[in-house]
Amino acid sequence: MRSYTLLAPAKINLYLEIVGDRPDGYHELVMVMQSIALCDQVEVRANGTEAIRLFCDHPLVPTDPTNLAYRAAELMRQAFPEAFGRYGGVDIILQKHIPVGAGLAGGSGNAAAVLVGLDLLWKLGLTQDEVQDLGAQIGSDVPFCISGGTALATGRGEKIDSMPTLKSFPVVLAKYRPLSVATAWAYKAYRQQFHDSYLCTPEDLECRRQQLHSGPMMAAIAQGDIHQVAQHLHNDLEKVVLPAYPTVAHLRQHFQEAGCLGAMMSGSGPTVFGIAASPTEATAIAHHLTEAIANPELDVWVTHAIGKGVHLAEPSPSETAFHSTHR
Ligand code: C5P
Repeated sequence: MRSYTLLAPAKINLYLEIVGDRPDGYHELVMVMQSIALCDQVEVRANGTEAIRLFCDHPLVPTDPTNLAYRAAELMRQAFPEAFGRYGGVDIILQKHIPVGAGLAGGSGNAAAVLVGLDLLWKLGLTQDEVQDLGAQIGSDVPFCISGGTALATGRGEKIDSMPTLKSFPVVLAKYRPLSVATAWAYKAYRQQFHDSYLCTPEDLECRRQQLHSGPMMAAIAQGDIHQVAQHLHNDLEKVVLPAYPTVAHLRQHFQEAGCLGAMMSGSGPTVFGIAASPTEATAIAHHLTEAIANPELDVWVTHAIGKGVHLAEPSPSETAFHSTHR
């Protein structure tokens, strides 16, 4: 096979707590991540040259070596020089459906798909753990994007423990098209404001992780109780992003008024998501948002939770009709 086409799902954070600083300059986190059916399509294709080339027609996506998908291919070239020598260069063709700079791990998912795709293309037979270790070198969210589903992410976000996968539930997403938030800025702003509350000793950090393990969000997931999950959504980064971006705070307010079981900003934002009681409710919430906000720059998606990360594309209707945008 000379090419593979993969789907890279977006993620939302059902829970994101910043617990402290790390010696590497990152933050120590406890997160619950969830894959959703809004996917980018990533094709990796042997190109018969010595080069890595990236193609994407989205105006905000760089096609140079700064793109995480390109960096993933470069990392694979360095890690497996013999395979690169045998199979040659690769074209990466990205079809973006996940908004860029949105807090949905779109770029990390693209990198994850390139790692999985090159493992297949170069017949390396890597284990999922091995691919995730490579992914962690590219970005904190990449390991989760590989395995997907519902997972606990700790460390800087790269340590993944799978959890009981939640039964699919409807999710509504909304984002103002011109708005994006730099993740590095959000964490830096958080550190400036909340550094005094950071836990410092390994014992305190471990104690907090244990508390969260037996906390209400974990219990809700263990019981598969989506109403309780929606009640316990949490994201520390809201504390800095919402005051800096009042339109996002306003959007979140609208989600709550629209009848969601719960609403929250995803990651460093600015996408806001809401959990709906049923697919019909999700569509009604999407219409409500579109009408109440009446801003042509607001994109709204109706999608749902899925139990997997990067996977091979299958041309089935359920995978292709995964989202709708209401304007
Ligand atoms: O890992 P990733 O490259 O996606 O992170 C982007 C930025 O977010 C980092 O450069 C860092 O500033 C911040 N970050 C952090 N702590 C984390 C994850 C990310 O401070 N656990």
